[in-house]
Amino acid sequence: MKVLLLSRADVEKLISIRETIEAVEEAFRAKGLGKAQMPPKSYIFFNRYDGDFRVMPAYLEDTEAAGVKIVNVHPQNPSKHGMPTVMATIVLLDPQTGAPLAIMDGTTITNVRTGAAGAVAAKHLAREDSRVVALIGAGAQAMTQFLALNEIFKIEELRVSDKVEANAEKYASEVKKRFGISIKLTDVKEAVQGADIIVTTTPVKSPIVMNDWVSEGVHINAIGADAPGKQELDPKILKRAKIVIDNWEQASHSGEINVPLSKGMLAREDIHAELGEIVSGKKSGRTSRDEITVFDSTGLAIQDIATAWLVYKKAEKVGMGTEVELL
Ligand SMILES: NC(=O)c1ccc[n+]([C@@H]2O[C@H](COP(=O)([O-])OP(=O)(O)OC[C@H]3O[C@@H](n4cnc5c(N)ncnc54)[C@H](O)[C@@H]3O)[C@@H](O)[C@H]2O)c1
Repeated sequence: MKVLLLSRADVEKLISIRETIEAVEEAFRAKGLGKAQMPPKSYIFFNRYDGDFRVMPAYLEDTEAAGVKIVNVHPQNPSKHGMPTVMATIVLLDPQTGAPLAIMDGTTITNVRTGAAGAVAAKHLAREDSRVVALIGAGAQAMTQFLALNEIFKIEELRVSDKVEANAEKYASEVKKRFGISIKLTDVKEAVQGADIIVTTTPVKSPIVMNDWVSEGVHINAIGADAPGKQELDPKILKRAKIVIDNWEQASHSGEINVPLSKGMLAREDIHAELGEIVSGKKSGRTSRDEITVFDSTGLAIQDIATAWLVYKKAEKVGMGTEVELL
């Protein structure tokens, strides 16, 4: 029984941000229509190392994509070990037999599918003519968030804020080199004031974007909070906003809403929809220019498996990867 091994280099050659946005949007549609199985991710915490890992299975019934991702989050990795904060491995299975089909690097897939979810959310929730984007945090997720938003919007002004100046500078020079867009490096307050879209991608555990700083009509992709106790936004922003989550079980446990919910500052009735309900047309997206919208992303296994499936099918077509007799 042959299993296809795909390295990070293989995945990077095969993956495309545009196709990933389409696959992720389809996956959210399938979820909204009840055509996806996806138990919430389960966590193992390495408290003594400030890290954790999660196991994330999913099955998309229409495309027959099935599999599981194992992914860690260790925020000290870049500074202490010269390794990424987030690393992942994905195994795809044949739904008919349960046999493993492929084992691949899921790190790039995690970053790209997270950017894609941000773009899908912004497509349905941000004002169509959004031009000014503020990125809070300038790490791996911030890069794919920009790449994906850049596919949907005509970004004219990009502002970046990171507590580590060197990270913001590196980010700015990379984006300038690749896209010719110049970036304003600034503090969080100045970055978010008057922005059309704000994206937060930090691992913080107390709010860094305050209510007074954000204008009516803004859309916020809250990406960083994906474990219990994490939050990036002043809960007063959530009280003003139309809140869209990716999944109730995950978001209430570990998303941007988890801390305000546990403190009784927010209730389930305050949540407008899951993104899949909006993509599948069951609930409305943005309905006025002035409303504030927030997408609370925790990252769903359906995003990973849809993207990994796309990569696997392309690899088969072009004959990329290494086949091994695993079993
Ligand atoms: N929602 C999802 O699907 C999803 C997917 C992957 C990662 N994440 C989460 O996103 C976060 C970022 O992941 P990453 O891979 O980009 O990590 P990263 O380490 O590459 O980048 C994080 C950046 O945030 C900056 N930062 C930290 N504290 C800050 C602060 N107070 N103000 C401004 N900047 C600050 C860091 O200096 C760093 O540059 C993590 O919390 C991770 O768990 C979420």
